[in-house]
Amino acid sequence: MSTLTKSPAWQALERHRDRLATTTLRQLFADENDRFERFSLRAGPLLLDCSKNWMTAETLDLLVSLARQQQLPSWIERLFSGYHVNHTEGRAALHMALRNRSERPMSVDGKDVMPAVRDVLGRMRRFSAGVREGRLRGATGKAFRTVVNIGIGGSDLGPCMVCEALRAYAADAPDVRFVSNVDDSHLMEALRGASPEETLFIVSSKTFTTQETMANAESARQWLTGALGNDAVGLHFAAVSTNVPGTTAFGISPDRVFEFWDWVGGRYSLWSAIGLPVAMAVGMDRFEELLAGAHAMDEHFRTTSLHANAPVMLGLLDVWYADFHGCGTRAVLPYSQYLHRLPAYLQQLDMESNGKQIDREGNRVDHPTGAIVWGEPGTNGQHAFFQLLHQGTQIVPCDFIVAAVGAHESGRHHEMLLANCLAQTQALAFGKSGDEAQDEMLAAGMPAERASFLSPYRSFPGNRPSTTILLERLDPYALGALIALYEHRVFVQSVLWNINAFDQWGVELGKQLAGNLLPRISGRDADEGLDGSTAGLLHAIRKIRSSRGPASR
Ligand code: F6P
Repeated sequence: MSTLTKSPAWQALERHRDRLATTTLRQLFADENDRFERFSLRAGPLLLDCSKNWMTAETLDLLVSLARQQQLPSWIERLFSGYHVNHTEGRAALHMALRNRSERPMSVDGKDVMPAVRDVLGRMRRFSAGVREGRLRGATGKAFRTVVNIGIGGSDLGPCMVCEALRAYAADAPDVRFVSNVDDSHLMEALRGASPEETLFIVSSKTFTTQETMANAESARQWLTGALGNDAVGLHFAAVSTNVPGTTAFGISPDRVFEFWDWVGGRYSLWSAIGLPVAMAVGMDRFEELLAGAHAMDEHFRTTSLHANAPVMLGLLDVWYADFHGCGTRAVLPYSQYLHRLPAYLQQLDMESNGKQIDREGNRVDHPTGAIVWGEPGTNGQHAFFQLLHQGTQIVPCDFIVAAVGAHESGRHHEMLLANCLAQTQALAFGKSGDEAQDEMLAAGMPAERASFLSPYRSFPGNRPSTTILLERLDPYALGALIALYEHRVFVQSVLWNINAFDQWGVELGKQLAGNLLPRISGRDADEGLDGSTAGLLHAIRKIRSSRGPASR
């Protein structure tokens, strides 16, 4: 057993969990009709209703004791002070500096990073305005109508999710498209209908070595130079990277390279020049509103007491469900079509950060860490997987995210969205008993025997926890706050588990093995030394490919 699971705070929570085992949300609401007042929080532009969680005041006190035992306040301080929280890579994780709207300096290794951050923001503003206003043009003098971001993981998911989320703000903007997959269909489809003369590429890669991104960038360059010649590259390519020599070697002119720094993790890089596609789509003013919303959440996280701190509350609940109730997954359910890429974005943020099994001292943990995060927008999910949420055998804590005011307010659509969102949280929490189901069927005129038979099928166990995050509206400011809320929540989990949220060694083995297998796909290298399954698959692949030839376009 690790020191964590043996610790007094952990064991007190185990005993508390056992005492609460038979208490349902129905019971908790019957006992405390002020639960909403007691367990809802305001954080910047967000309201969090945590009252439909398995939690009493004592639960919260005990979770906060665990947080104190794990020295959460001092870890928050270290995070903001530029301490090397990422100890396996010897780096700080100071993404908050990228959105620091205050005059306070923020330092890494004794150096204030704010002047460099402001300089890059200024360059992003000038470049994005030049493109949007048609002053910066392509090799034949035409304005850019299409901007294609080439990147993967953190160099794709954040800007792509935000561009989708803020589509309502993107009128009269270039069409911003995203290419991530090394599957060339992705690039081909992104370039469908685009004219080389009017297309600007942004190659986004922290390392500028990522195989997929480099392959897509090379193919994009061929597509461009095939139509406009080699000299066009300088005007049609920009790059965002920490690897300036790499961007130069690719042929991107230095005034089109937007730098960021190794103290920004890939999945935390949206706020850096990686956000350039967002500035292209909605303008730099909106991008800075996004930064301001995130900064408001940083201030809340840094200065609010643990009991009233929104990211702390969510991180504590995550640990409560994952470690004390065996909930291996968590659903994110945005009631907003514009947020349809949010679950994918949060998958990287949460699972790449906390999908770890070795603690900060190098010991294997003996308790669950990062949960599987998944989801889809409501109301679509209701007609797909919500069945399992309501009547399945697994408990899946859910985040419902909804704006009080819709982006368009056309007709009754937004009211319907809101009603559905709240109804789902009610149904999950309070369910419908067998008797209630039977009474309803009898009242509708069903014969008693049939009603009795159907009642187990038509009853809902309830007592399924959820948190509702209410935005006033989905604007850049609220979106920034929402994303930063999740970032800090992930950090809180990691502190409680004593793991490093900022490395990602688990992605390396696959990259290494793909490098070994690439020459074997064509048969250039022999299969010897391979396991039987992989060798068998390679053999079958080569056979099919040699009999069919490449797919026709
Ligand atoms: O392979 C994982 C990863 O390193 C992510 O952490 C990162 O966001 C992504 O690849 C892309 O990396 P880069 O921005 O260096 O191309």
